[in-house]
This record gives sequence, structure tokens and C-alpha cells, in this order.
Amino acid sequence: MKIAVVGSGYVGLVAAACFAELGHEVVCVDNDPAKLRALERGVTPIHEKFLPELIARHHGKRLRFSDSLAAPVSSSKAIFIAVGTPSTEGGEADLSYVEAVSREIAHCLGDHRGEYKIIVEKSTVPVYTNEWIQRVMERSGAPQGSFDVASNPEFLREGTAVTDFLFPDRIVTGCDSRRGLETLREIYAPLTSGNYYKQKNAIPEPDGARVPPALVATGAKSAELIKHASNAFLAMKISFINAVANVCEAVGADIEQVREGIGLDRRIGSRFLAPGIGYGGSCFPKDLLAFRAVAKESGYDFALLDEIMRINEEQRQRFVRKVRNALWTLKGKRLAALGLAFKGGTDDIRASQAIAIIQLLLREGCSIAAFDPAAMPRAREVFRGEPALEFAESAYAAAQGAEAVLLLTEWEEFAALDLERLKSAMKYPILVDGRNLYSPAVMAEHGFTYHSVGRQGLEAPKPAAVKASESASSS
Ligand code: UDX
Ligand code: UDX
Repeated sequence: MKIAVVGSGYVGLVAAACFAELGHEVVCVDNDPAKLRALERGVTPIHEKFLPELIARHHGKRLRFSDSLAAPVSSSKAIFIAVGTPSTEGGEADLSYVEAVSREIAHCLGDHRGEYKIIVEKSTVPVYTNEWIQRVMERSGAPQGSFDVASNPEFLREGTAVTDFLFPDRIVTGCDSRRGLETLREIYAPLTSGNYYKQKNAIPEPDGARVPPALVATGAKSAELIKHASNAFLAMKISFINAVANVCEAVGADIEQVREGIGLDRRIGSRFLAPGIGYGGSCFPKDLLAFRAVAKESGYDFALLDEIMRINEEQRQRFVRKVRNALWTLKGKRLAALGLAFKGGTDDIRASQAIAIIQLLLREGCSIAAFDPAAMPRAREVFRGEPALEFAESAYAAAQGAEAVLLLTEWEEFAALDLERLKSAMKYPILVDGRNLYSPAVMAEHGFTYHSVGRQGLEAPKPAAVKASESASSS
């Protein structure tokens, strides 16, 4: 099928490349000339596994890029809207880009009564957006009955976006017309039939994938709500386990044991129960605010969402308090911060808790050496002109002379550090682990003072010299 995707951000570009991989003819449109020039040169503006391969495989064949909507709209049967839906001041979703693109699509359609078209919401949007797109397009001249608007929310995670798209747990297609649902069913048939996975150069199947994925056909409003509710539920699981971790700290229990004990209940499930400094990213924070706003608008006071956000905020403060408790005072302290991205496996720093915590510690008068395997180029923008922050070549370089090392992002490589080498670089062997990448037992073995989330802290054994002087003074 001929498909147009408007917006080449995380969702748009991954969707466009994957639709081409499924055999469709795709034009990806973006109004950012710099991004388009890079894509035309085969440069992928985002750090996503398998994406460069897919673009190299299909670019110039089944995948093209364009800065104009006209031709792609008239030649395509399905037009996916994947432009940004950032938050407004009040927390609502800013749908002005979606509206602008809908109006432009309608103008391109003109009084075109030719082939039936489907306009598909791929960006995360609040309930009712499909009705507004329909209304705006008709007001802008798109002939009634010549198109339908559908919702097809994307559940991909950054860092695993391509495999999440090609091996989804479910594909949600929401449209109030049978013709629309049929068209979406046709687009995803290579996945739901299982045929794609039989191809010899198919993207490798990740562990635990559900093949073939389920396809859920719903009304448009239900599909829009499925996305907001799914993200809110996942964020709730994270805030819940962080709240339980805070109780563990207070009563002397171990969150990792608690997490295992509750996660084995299949009604709960062990995924998305990793305690830490809280969730970040371009989705959870903004989608919770948008869901909160649309629920309020519809007359329902969804206060639970406020509590999820409050717990997440509090995790930042709690972590800073933990660093202070480990060092007594913060002013003038030299710290090493490992992790800037909002999670491991991505270069994205949008709403990163790591960056927020570093900003709090800088405000307390600390100096910080930061390292991240992928996100430093983007973080340099945020900390431009900040004299008390420097970027280091490696985790060990960051730890050089540090009075404490802070683990802020769950990069795999941070869970496999050479602890003796790290310790020898540091001024004091103090590690504050915001992602529970290590166990207290291992850290004790290596003689660290170690504080983590939801577990009891431990003090490094006193150096021999101190012990000797103490026993001398006590004898
Ligand atoms: C998008 C949505 O913003 C988000 O709600 C959803 O959860 C995931 O999909 P993302 O892909 O990360 O997020 O967006 P972003 O990286 O901001 O990319 C949007 C792209 O659309 C940009 O490349 C931008 O240049 C382009 N764009 C924006 C257009 O081409 N036309 C416009 O009118 C506006
Ligand atoms: C999320 C959703 O998972 C995805 O379905 C949706 O399409 C977009 O938003 P993403 O933002 O890429 O994806 O990241 P995700 O892997 O969900 O992590 C979100 C945040 O939660 C990260 O900051 C991560 O560190 C944190 N997290 C995740 C935890 O603190 N604990 C966990 O158990 C899982």
C-alpha cells in the first residue's frame, strides 16, 4: 500500500522505516530541512538499534523522504500523523501541529473525490482528537465521505523502537468505520499473518515476543484512551514500586526481595517494577499531564495520576538527600555522575531524572564530572556555560578524585564496572546507586560505602590506619 508518514521523529521515522520493511511504499514527510538533509545522506538523527540498517535497505526504493505533503497525500491511501504533541503550560497536549498538518492534508485533498483515504493518528493524542481532525479537515474543504480518521497508537520504547514496532504485544486500530479498520488490518497483515517473520532477512525476534501479535479493533475514542491509560498504568507501576521502596528504607526491608515476591504473582507481573530515581522521557511525564487534563475536562477528577507524578517528583529529592546523608554536606563536594539519558540504550535526555538531579546538586554547590555512553552531545546543550559541570571521557575518568559516584541511568555497562579500578580513582569509596545496578553484598566485598533505593545503606570498613589509631587511643 502507498503510505505517507508526517513527522520523522522517534515515532514517525521508525514507523516509516518499518512500514517499508513490511513491503509498503512509504514517503516520510518532515518540515525540518536539516533533518531531511541528514536522512537523505543516510544519517539517522536518532540512536536506535536496527534503524540505520532498515533505512539503508529501503531508502530510495520503498522509502523516500520529502518536505512537501502534496504529492505524498495524493498518491497515498493511508496518511499517518506523527508530529510532536508536546505539553502546554497547563499540561494539556499541544495539538497545534496535529491541527496544522490536518488542515494541510485537507488542502492537498482539495475537492479530490478519487481514492478513499484514511488519516491515522500515530502521535499520542487525547481522546476526541480524531473528531477534531475530521471536523477541521471538512472545514478545510476535504470532501465528506472521501476519508476516515483513525487512531493507531504506538507503544514503542526508545532504545528498542524497531523491535517494539515489528514485535508488538498488540496492534491497536481504532476507527468508527469498517472501511477504516479494514485498511489498517491490511497495513499490518504482514505482522498479524506471521508472514513477515518468515522472511530470511527479517529483524531478529527479541526474547519473549508474542508472534504473531494480537490486533485489537476498537472505536476511535477507545483507541485514543488505550494509549493514555497504558502509559499511565506503566508509570503507576514505577511510582508504586518506588513508594514501596521508600517504606522498605524506613523499616529495614529489601525492595529487591519485595519486588521479586510481588512480581511472581502473574496478576501483577515482574516487568516495569524496577525501583530507582523515577521515570523520565518524552512520553510518561507529558502523557500523564495530558491524561490528567482530559479526564478533568470530561468531568472526572483522576487524582490518582497526581499521586503518581508526586511520587516521581519526590524520588529526585530523596536521591539528593541520600547523597547529602552519605557526604554530610554538599557544598564544594566533587561528584561523578554516571548517566545523563532518561534511561539506558538511548541518547534522549527529554525529562531525564538524571539531568534534573544533577541540576539540583549543582544548585547545592557541588562540582560534577558527568559521563554517558550516548547522551553527552545532547546534554552539552543543557549545561552550556555551566562552570561546575564537566563531561568526562569514561566512567573511570569521571570518578577521578570524586568524593562519591552517582549511578543515575541504567546503562548495562554501568552495571559491569571494574569496581577496584573505580575505587582507586576515587577520593572516597562512596557509591550512591539510583538504579540498584549492584547488590550491597558485592559492594561490601569491594569495601564501598553504598547507598541504593529501597535497601539499607552500608558503610565501608574503616581503613587499617584509622582502626590502628582508634585501638591505640582506646588502649
Ligand atoms: C511523537 C509525539 O510527539 C509523541 O506524542 C508521541 O508520544 C510519540 O511521537 P516524537 O516522535 O518523539 O514523539 O516527536 P518528535 O521527536 O518531536 O518528532 C516530531 C517530528 O515532526 C519532528 O521531526 C518535526 O520536525 C516534525 N514536524 C512537526 C513536522 O514535520 N511538521 C509539523 O508541523 C510539526
Ligand atoms: C514509554 C513506554 O514504555 C512506551 O510504550 C511508549 O510508547 C512511550 O513511552 P519510553 O519512554 O521509551 O517508552 O521508556 P520506558 O522504557 O518505558 O522507560 C520510561 C522511564 O521509566 C525511564 O526513565 C526508565 O528509566 C523508567 N523505568 C522503566 C523505571 O524507573 N522502572 C522500570 O521498571 C521501567
